[in-house]
Amino acid sequence: HDAIDVIRAKRDGVELTGDQIRWVIGAYTAGQVPDEQMSALLMSVFFRGMTPAELAAWTQAMIDSGVRKDLSSLGRPTADKHSTGGVGDKTTLPLAPLVAACGVAVPQLSGRGLGHTGGTLDKLEAIPGWRAALTEDKYLAQLRDVGAVVCAAGNDLAPADKLLYALRDVTGTVESIPLIASSIMSKKIAEGADALVLDVKTGSGAFMKDVESSRELARTMVGLGEAAGVRTVALVTAMDRPLGRSAGNAVEVAESLEVLAGGGPADLVELTLALAREMLTGAGSDADPADVLASGRAMDSWEAMIRAQGGDPDAPLPQPTERHVVTAPATGTLTRLDAFSLGVAAWRLGAGRARKEDPVSAAAGVVWHATVGEQVTAGQPLLELQTDDASRIERALQSLEGAVGVDTDDVPLPLVVDRITA
Ligand code: URA
Repeated sequence: HDAIDVIRAKRDGVELTGDQIRWVIGAYTAGQVPDEQMSALLMSVFFRGMTPAELAAWTQAMIDSGVRKDLSSLGRPTADKHSTGGVGDKTTLPLAPLVAACGVAVPQLSGRGLGHTGGTLDKLEAIPGWRAALTEDKYLAQLRDVGAVVCAAGNDLAPADKLLYALRDVTGTVESIPLIASSIMSKKIAEGADALVLDVKTGSGAFMKDVESSRELARTMVGLGEAAGVRTVALVTAMDRPLGRSAGNAVEVAESLEVLAGGGPADLVELTLALAREMLTGAGSDADPADVLASGRAMDSWEAMIRAQGGDPDAPLPQPTERHVVTAPATGTLTRLDAFSLGVAAWRLGAGRARKEDPVSAAAGVVWHATVGEQVTAGQPLLELQTDDASRIERALQSLEGAVGVDTDDVPLPLVVDRITA
């Protein structure tokens, strides 16, 4: 094989063979095809797309660059959830222990935030002592004993994706449905869960800003999951405004604890229960997650899950040294609370990172006291910016220009926009 032939074929709209795809992904992962050739191929895919056969072969080649885990020795059904990323989306935190408390094991290999969207591991690291890295033995033991693990993916999980994602990030080739779908699904299929629920976000704070492309991404990923023998369902959910009442790291842990204690914001509770029902159904369980949440058993699973990874669930969470309040501009119905703007504000306050190697601040973030559809009064506290570094507040405020609207003609999306099955 020759990389130039593969690039030329894709550039000219000729369908690649499975053999060409297996070769180019394997050779790139092995360091035998250089970044400049892979960049050209990715840009050709960006413009030409992929046929279903190409996409299936591409995803399989990415899985085969590492190991596909086998969790059958657990003797319990397994289910996982993946979100395409949003602002204030801490759903994994209450969801994983809730589903575990319902008797279905949750093996979640997770990531960190980049840009304006948060990462689950960054949030959990706000808990004193908690560690994201686990050995394979500890991972399996925790799945068996606690029933839920959220930890960092090892280097054996779709290593081709680590390289390809980093290359896409610097070559303007992230926003491609086949490349996003194969990236996410190669990791999720390799993880080995029986059932998978995809939370495909739509709106300003999501990768896919409009509902139709979010649906297409959802259909593409559901097709890949089902073809690989994983029962897969997708919910397309609102990310025109952020989820819950906070975006950041420690603040999102605190909000998740409210849900586990039986309270918490209505939208976060509703989405957590909807995703839990899908995971349980996919795994063949008829447990009722609302009952289990009310019983307090999900909180017990949370504490066990945090302790098993070195965390102290009773330790106070980090608090910001600086707080800045933004008040409501008018009296009426809050019709706009722009997810992307709030995500950028939280990021600029220190909750996120600009480069992969940057540290994040556990205490930084944004809290909002009302969400879309609710009444606000002029002058009431609406947003609270939290940070360890007062010099960050000015830039965060700039990102909030135009983010809030009262009685505008914006029409907020329903929380669950669509449900996509095979
Ligand atoms: N998340 C991923 O893991 N991959 C993508 O391509 C986009 C989002």
